[in-house]
Amino acid sequence: MRLLVTGGAGFIGSNFVQFWLDRHPADELVVFDALTYAGNLENLSDLNDRRGYRFVKGRIEDAEAVRRAMDGGEVVVHFAAESFVDRSIVGPQVFVTTNVVGSQVLFDAAREAGVRLFVHVSTDEVYGSLGSTGRFSEETPYAPGNPYSASKAASDLLALAYYKTFGFPVVITHGSNNYGPYQFPEKFIPLFILRAMEGKPLPLYGDGLNVRDWIHVRDHCLGLALIVERGKAGETYNFGGDCERTNLEIARRICELAGRSDALIQFVKDRPGHDRRYAIDYAKAARELGFAPTTSIEAALPEVFRWYADHEPWWRHILSGEYQNFYAQWYAERGGGT
Ligand code: NAD
Ligand code: DAU
Repeated sequence: MRLLVTGGAGFIGSNFVQFWLDRHPADELVVFDALTYAGNLENLSDLNDRRGYRFVKGRIEDAEAVRRAMDGGEVVVHFAAESFVDRSIVGPQVFVTTNVVGSQVLFDAAREAGVRLFVHVSTDEVYGSLGSTGRFSEETPYAPGNPYSASKAASDLLALAYYKTFGFPVVITHGSNNYGPYQFPEKFIPLFILRAMEGKPLPLYGDGLNVRDWIHVRDHCLGLALIVERGKAGETYNFGGDCERTNLEIARRICELAGRSDALIQFVKDRPGHDRRYAIDYAKAARELGFAPTTSIEAALPEVFRWYADHEPWWRHILSGEYQNFYAQWYAERGGGT
């Protein structure tokens, strides 16, 4: 099979590429990625000399570049996106450009190329925020609460409209919060791991009691691989980790792993529009694809912590660039995180 993976140099994309090629070593795979601040070729360095693997640098909004990369592809797995909620609050425009316009350009190129399947990797955030009970199912109405999730919701709706109008063979997936190796350390878990290792304050938003449903990136990749193997066009599938935890619980655990007191935790001004709780009902994926998460965050966090401790050159390198400016401004406004 020949796959085109957009955003394959990012966190989930690079984990997926490794996961897929381990399971399907004879497949051809093209990674198409703009290498924004979040994309890193070091995430794929193990594949450099591998037959059947190729990297193409380009933006998904560039129709001509996308068309060339798509040539001969049977399946597209679309990860490329602006993915960080806080950045979407500081500067929403690029989220619309990449996540909405870029996705539309890709859909058209994929239709033209006649791909067999297009996996549109989306997020549980499109459903908005839950109260203290209930879980998101595929039937939950969309109610995105920030510019990032609104841009993902817009691209989902466009994908479904393309299915209905053109018979576009798209499957939409909604993953919950991923954690694991190669996650850019702007996101909660790797940010707190690195800061705890260095004994720096951990900027916890609001009262720290927001809840996320954590899925190990390997389990998310397993779900996505099952879609490529058995997914049915026009369908939507949710993937969760059965691991609802408050941010405060995770922050305390990270302090423990770093051998630090939880006095490092610093409550700072909340994220505007902060969704309170996410939880995923993945019964449909379990029933139709045989999906089940294989690990809990308690079991996996020590290994993830160790991964960051063992990969200091990787994170020092990516943290040395433009990210520093974002960090300084955002956390100064929240009154913490120095
Ligand atoms: P990431 O930010 O780590 O990686 C995004 C990748 O997309 C980077 O390699 C970047 O260079 C590339 N990219 C960005 N803009 C591009 C453009 N215009 N053209 C081409 N490439 C571009 O993101 P991630 O956390 O790996 O998320 C991947 C996908 O999964 C996203 O679509 C996101 O919405 C979705 N998702 C993420 C999570 C999560 O917890 N991280 C959960 C569910 C769904
Ligand atoms: O649910 C899936 C989504 O999960 C993905 O679609 C997004 O791409 C991904 O970024 C993630 O969004 P969140 O906003 O839930 O993740 P983030 O890591 O930014 O934050 C997790 C929680 O931790 C959230 O409640 C905010 C909180 N937080 C985050 C940061 C960066 C803090 O308390 N302090 C922080 O400094």
